[in-house]
Amino acid sequence: MEELTADSITLQMLKEARDTVMSSPLGVINTPMIPWCQTTLPLHVPSNIHLKLENMQKTGSFKIRGVANQFARKSREGILVTMSAGNYGKSFAYASKHYGSKGKVVMPETAPMSRSLLIQSFGIEVERVPTSCLIDVVSRCVQEDKMTFLHSYNDLDLIAGHASIGFEILEVVPDPDVVVVCCGGGGLLAGVAAVIKLSGLEKTRVYGVEPKGACTMYRSFIEKKPVGMDSKSIASGLAPPFAGALPYALCKKYVEEIVLVTDEEIISAVSILYRAGLVVEPSGSAAFAAVINNMIPDIMGKKVVVILTGGNIGKDELTSFPD
Ligand SMILES: Cc1ncc(COP(=O)(O)O)c(C=O)c1O
Repeated sequence: MEELTADSITLQMLKEARDTVMSSPLGVINTPMIPWCQTTLPLHVPSNIHLKLENMQKTGSFKIRGVANQFARKSREGILVTMSAGNYGKSFAYASKHYGSKGKVVMPETAPMSRSLLIQSFGIEVERVPTSCLIDVVSRCVQEDKMTFLHSYNDLDLIAGHASIGFEILEVVPDPDVVVVCCGGGGLLAGVAAVIKLSGLEKTRVYGVEPKGACTMYRSFIEKKPVGMDSKSIASGLAPPFAGALPYALCKKYVEEIVLVTDEEIISAVSILYRAGLVVEPSGSAAFAAVINNMIPDIMGKKVVVILTGGNIGKDELTSFPD
């Protein structure tokens, strides 16, 4: 990967990426942003909450934004390989089919089988391996089979594509007090936080949210370098084996703090959102879980934006969660 520092990323760069994403042939949309009161479900949180509905994005998650920018800017020669628990893989597979490129997704064997089948249905090869082997298998594909690696979170083009969400948020709520974003490898959090701070909103606080069992960015903040762990969570999209180096550098610069939620809190958030008429998967519900469980400091009376990042959840998984 090219050597990049957080300081080399400018607002102009992110604006150009936004133009690329929104004019992409992949059909990325400017997703709705709704105030919580529009759902009519009572919520006992004393804040003015706005939800950014990336669960309604093309392919069912925000990942298509970063993929649209990657596919527009990188060479698509030969076979592309990536690692993903599902959502990046789905967007990658969709884009590969659109552009007629060949690809392979290395998936953790904990990811739902339905996700592998969906990715295969776009003509993409899937290899399921233990989470701890993901990087070794990808390295083998690159070194022995000469495939080109597209990273699912540690990549400038991807982060810049995800950053387009930040611009859309500020167009609807120009001066949020707090923005809450879930974090896996950290690509989304890094992009959104960079747009907000580079737009001059020094007072807006941006929080990252991770599951307790998969808190690589939280640990990276403590150890002052990107670290890995044996990640386990119901939110498989938030449980990569390590935090990305570039996301870490950007989060360190622009993010207030990383807060942690339990899998039980995530499951309960999925159910509340469902009762409010919103289908959101566990990975997409973590930021909301942090807000309703009072994990975000000082939000009373404040304008709080929460990104719901994905809606790829089946009926079986949804009904397995208690009400
Ligand atoms: C629904 C959803 N939300 C959030 C994330 C985390 O994104 P990132 O790895 O950029 O932190 C993912 C990653 O797959 C995801 O699928």
